[in-house]
Amino acid sequence: MSDLERICSVGDVPDDTTFLFRVSETDEDEDEREAILVRTDDGIQAWLNYCMHLTHIKLDKGSGAPMRNGEVICQNHGAYFEADTGYCNYGPCEGAVLDDLELTIDGDHVFLSDDDFSFVGTGAIETDPADRTSRSNVEF
Ligand code: FES
Repeated sequence: MSDLERICSVGDVPDDTTFLFRVSETDEDEDEREAILVRTDDGIQAWLNYCMHLTHIKLDKGSGAPMRNGEVICQNHGAYFEADTGYCNYGPCEGAVLDDLELTIDGDHVFLSDDDFSFVGTGAIETDPADRTSRSNVEF
């Protein structure tokens, strides 16, 4: 098991939406990824923040992913993912499962305890405004 890295307090995880944070992969390239915490009947679960239909699409776009009846909803094409299993039970990627991250809950603290990822910080990956401009389809 990896060292425990504190993400937030249990009370920081909302009941009806997701808590967004950043991780880096612990392999050589250390790519930064986004992940979400969600409440389940049994506690809290963590998933990578990417839909299984189009894997560059984020479930939580920065202000919390919509949730209904214990399911996280992808806003792009309406896929439903069970918060506790990550299983897609409706939508274009039905049958797929979100990528999970290992957590340890200790008292009021939520820790990342996944050998494949390191905790970077809370919130979304910052995008450089210059990057956005360079990816524009408009050319002059
Ligand atoms: S991108 Fe999520 S359902 Fe299509």
